[in-house]
Amino acid sequence: MPIDQALIEDAKKARENAAAPFSKFKVGAALRTKAGKVFYGCNVENCTYGLTVCAERVALLSALAAGEREFDAVAVVTQSDEPSTPCGPCRQLMWEYCGDIDVALANLKGQRIDYKLSTLFPHPFYFSLED
Ligand code: THU
Repeated sequence: MPIDQALIEDAKKARENAAAPFSKFKVGAALRTKAGKVFYGCNVENCTYGLTVCAERVALLSALAAGEREFDAVAVVTQSDEPSTPCGPCRQLMWEYCGDIDVALANLKGQRIDYKLSTLFPHPFYFSLED
């Protein structure tokens, strides 16, 4: 299903809950399951910095913890000048658990860019073991 404005608004709302006292860069994510349920994420920072978790991962882990395994879209909203793209680790994780989902990236000015995840992350790491 294409990404409608409602999913962008969901991500915008999630962004308001961001805990970003160090970078001041708030990110919101809304991850939609194939059945149409939406899971929310915001970035959560920490004074060690390294324990920071991105909005995309918060949304994904929350959905996985609720037992969801089938996803079709994610919207990400930031305050950046141009819509900003997910970091590498989030791309890897989304690829592994969501496959080639639709990704809509938006900013607070209303600019939006859409991708397939495979365009943003064309060569994922994966391994299989022979036994
Ligand atoms: N951040 C995200 O939430 N998602 C990304 O894909 C990239 C970065 C957060 C982490 C940190 O809290 C802030 O943005 C600045 O890097």
